[in-house]
Amino acid sequence: MCGIIGYVGRDSATSILISGLRRLEYRGYDSAGIAIQHNGSFDIRRSVGKLNNLEANLQNGSIEGTTGIGHTRWATHGRPSEQNAHPHRSGDVVLVHNGIIENFLTLRHRLESEGFRFESETDTEVIAHLLSSAIKRGRTLDVAVRQVAHDLQGSYAIAVMSLAEPGRIVVSRSGCPLVIGLNGTGAFLASDVTPLLSHTREVVFLEDGEVGILQESEIQVFDPEGRPKSFQPETIHWDAEAAEKGGYSDFMMKEIHEQPQVIMDTLRGRFDYETGEADLPDLAMTKEELLNAKRFWIVACGTSWHAGLVGKYLFEEMVRRPIQVDIGSEFRYREPMIQQGDVFIAISQSGETADTLAAAREAKRRGARVLAIVNAVGSTLSREADGIIYTRCGPEISVASTKAFTGQVIALYLLALHVGRVHEVLTPEEGRWWLDRFLTLPGHVEHILKQEKSIELIAHQYAQKRNFLYLGRGINYPIALEGALKLKEISYIHAEGYPAGEMKHGPIALIDSEMPVVVLSPKDRLYEKSVSNLMEVRARSAPVIAFVSEGDHALDKVADHVFHIPDVHPLLTPILFTVGLQLLAYHIANSRGLDVDRPRNLAKSVTVE
Ligand code: AGP
Repeated sequence: MCGIIGYVGRDSATSILISGLRRLEYRGYDSAGIAIQHNGSFDIRRSVGKLNNLEANLQNGSIEGTTGIGHTRWATHGRPSEQNAHPHRSGDVVLVHNGIIENFLTLRHRLESEGFRFESETDTEVIAHLLSSAIKRGRTLDVAVRQVAHDLQGSYAIAVMSLAEPGRIVVSRSGCPLVIGLNGTGAFLASDVTPLLSHTREVVFLEDGEVGILQESEIQVFDPEGRPKSFQPETIHWDAEAAEKGGYSDFMMKEIHEQPQVIMDTLRGRFDYETGEADLPDLAMTKEELLNAKRFWIVACGTSWHAGLVGKYLFEEMVRRPIQVDIGSEFRYREPMIQQGDVFIAISQSGETADTLAAAREAKRRGARVLAIVNAVGSTLSREADGIIYTRCGPEISVASTKAFTGQVIALYLLALHVGRVHEVLTPEEGRWWLDRFLTLPGHVEHILKQEKSIELIAHQYAQKRNFLYLGRGINYPIALEGALKLKEISYIHAEGYPAGEMKHGPIALIDSEMPVVVLSPKDRLYEKSVSNLMEVRARSAPVIAFVSEGDHALDKVADHVFHIPDVHPLLTPILFTVGLQLLAYHIANSRGLDVDRPRNLAKSVTVE
């Protein structure tokens, strides 16, 4: 996600902005820029790539001025480029923005019809032109920000300067965090507290709809109706490293807890509730191409392959379409029967996984249309694919993939809905029915996260075991695989995910009192079969950790531990079970004193064979 920084005071702004952006690098970015206001003009410098490139740009002439804003961009609309980098300017206004403006295309078309010329592909530039237009009509900057906010749908945190109001920065937010602070030299703003800690620990977190005015020796806050709001600064006790982790002990836990937001961001602006359809403009595939596709394929690796397996059940059960799911390293060396016009879906958080890239290139060579479900904007896969669905997770720092998996499954829900409506397998009413349920998922995940302590207690009991077995059926067989992978890769305990019905064909020989067995048993048509598998395990003295639907207490006396997830449609259980299993793996690894963010032998992106 993007990073914002700003300063107005008596010191030179440039060095404060650059050091502030450095403290925001952990958020991930692909371009950066600053704007300094001085003597009635703006000096704007922007560079693609890392901050070193921006600093090199500044070597070509330092910038005077004590009022400025800066930005590190994690691209969502428009590829990484200098034109798309922030700050963006329109007339006497310059701003930086974090968030996603869902209705930016409508606003852009309206502004273009009013004669505004756009220089970038970003949603942000729309805000700059709207503000410039309001100021030309005589509004002060803070009033303009409050008025323009009413036009915006989506999420934003913005910092704005106007040549008409030197020595002043106006900020506002909705759905994206923004924090401000003051010390003896001036006023500061940022996306999170990390860059502020070296200047002040007394900060104010703006609320949605509020507007702040920062001046050298004063910060003011106004409520959404424009009334002055009194505020009591909070004192931040974190050190900078803790601040980068949002106060969590490591990135993995932070990213597990970011999943409700990831679901909302990945869904945001990608459906039309009236028609019950998904709206995927970057798919770059016509309805005819989707209708005429002879076969659908999914290829991925690791956790992304597990998401692809979930996609198989979605395509078969939501839209009645067969789909072939393969591991990248296998697909690339087979003689796959892929043909002209097939739809090939490559899933990858990094967009740089060598096996997945090779498979996608092979599919393209054989005439398939390649669609990427990818998190990293501007990655190799995103540039080589014909169509894209970005997962909008922000950078995933921890090597163990958590929020990216959730974003991938949400993208697959949207894709399945899209195919289902295009193939007219789903009616508009059914499409709305599914959208209603997708929109309940953030709340359900929050509900599970609130029960973390009970999972932690279970984890501590089994942290010294040497083997685990994870059992699931149907759409939760891939979740058994994912839960086992999470445990393996961060706790170094051997764990196998298995289709529950397959246990009697071999693995049951492994079961004894030293092998905890995790059983996923939602209230679905396979429930009774899952319960009988659980009984088989129990009869062999294995400790059983059962994940079941809320309201189901039939296993309370059978399993050693029962964890309840919200009682939802069976096709919606994968993400909910996965969050529980992420927490289980995390707390087992944590109680073993291991580095959950950087497990031994693993790389975040496997760019080699
Ligand atoms: C997941 O926890 C692992 N770190 C790994 O399996 C990962 O999912 C796999 O390497 C694929 O990476 P990608 O999604 O970036 O392609």
